[in-house]
Amino acid sequence: MLLSIGMRPSPHLGLNYILAVRVNVNHCVMDKPRILSGVQPTGTPHLGNYLGAIRNWVIQQTQYDNYFFIADLHAITVPHDPTTLAENTYRLAALYLACGLDLNCTTIFVQSHVSAHAELAWLLNCITPLNWLERMIQFKEKALKQGENVSIGLLDYPVLQAADILLYQADQVPVGEDQKQHLELTRDIAARFNFQYASEEKPILKVPEPLIQTEGARIMSLTDGTRKMSKSDPSELSRINLLDSPDEIRKKIKRCKTDPVRGLAFDDPERPECQNLLTLYQLLSGQTKAAVAADCADMGWGQFKPLLADTVVAALAPIQSKCHELMRDRTHLENVLKTGREQAAAIANTTLAQVRHALGYAPPR
Ligand code: TRP
Repeated sequence: MLLSIGMRPSPHLGLNYILAVRVNVNHCVMDKPRILSGVQPTGTPHLGNYLGAIRNWVIQQTQYDNYFFIADLHAITVPHDPTTLAENTYRLAALYLACGLDLNCTTIFVQSHVSAHAELAWLLNCITPLNWLERMIQFKEKALKQGENVSIGLLDYPVLQAADILLYQADQVPVGEDQKQHLELTRDIAARFNFQYASEEKPILKVPEPLIQTEGARIMSLTDGTRKMSKSDPSELSRINLLDSPDEIRKKIKRCKTDPVRGLAFDDPERPECQNLLTLYQLLSGQTKAAVAADCADMGWGQFKPLLADTVVAALAPIQSKCHELMRDRTHLENVLKTGREQAAAIANTTLAQVRHALGYAPPR
């Protein structure tokens, strides 16, 4: 990748040299498929975000050229609190690092720091049919909750998401079940743009594939095993946040919903809570499903719950202490995000320039 062509003053000759440096920004990057994903900085991420997304990114990171960002433009598509946005953004960046994302093979950046996201979203808006957005399930669900206050931003959310993905020419996007429709839309928008403004032999936007996660899972609510663990659930008892104290974790697990059946087993559709809690235990204890199934087959909830609580507390302790350490050094975090922004912008601006050109804009002087 030809990365930086810049003018650097030479201290010896007093001349400007044009440097064209072929560098491998990230040691583990070259020729690996590029993946990209993001999380919104709303509230604190919970075990569902960790086990369903971030932990998989970490496990797979050496196999890919990774771009993970903090979706702070998406965070204002519903009413938000300006006094906590910046803090939530830094905290999420700290958590990405604390969970084990490695800057040697991963670029971490903040969406709003790379203005190409907002700009490409506008350009794509103008080729996206309104009825494609009106069909989006997440829009319909969120719009119902907002009543009168539905913003254009909420409707436009998936176009911004398409811009996020297409700017980086991502090969694959790790997404959960709930984001599949948005990825389909991204593919449709890319194909439509290519069809209208590029040739078949030389498409401008890469049509991304979903990255189906084999490891990890859909983590469900602690108070209702049939619903996804979610930041927007009004009950705090429904989720374990990554920064919950050991006491809070124990309390939530003590009070979580179970069932009256004796013995614990996976894969019983009648027992969604049992399935969810065993999965949590399996993933966080690092055991195989078979080992957990054998160990827990004769257990009752009274024995299992403290075991699960200890496991969650122990698994989160190193993440929490690393996160707190990172949060104490704001300058370091700012520098990480500055480097991330530079690496991201270099790629994003290249795609944006191609799109602008294809649409007929002359480059600015
Ligand atoms: N909509 C995603 C979510 O809420 C967050 C997101 C924004 C995203 N842009 C993205 C995910 C691009 C993947 C790719 O989970």
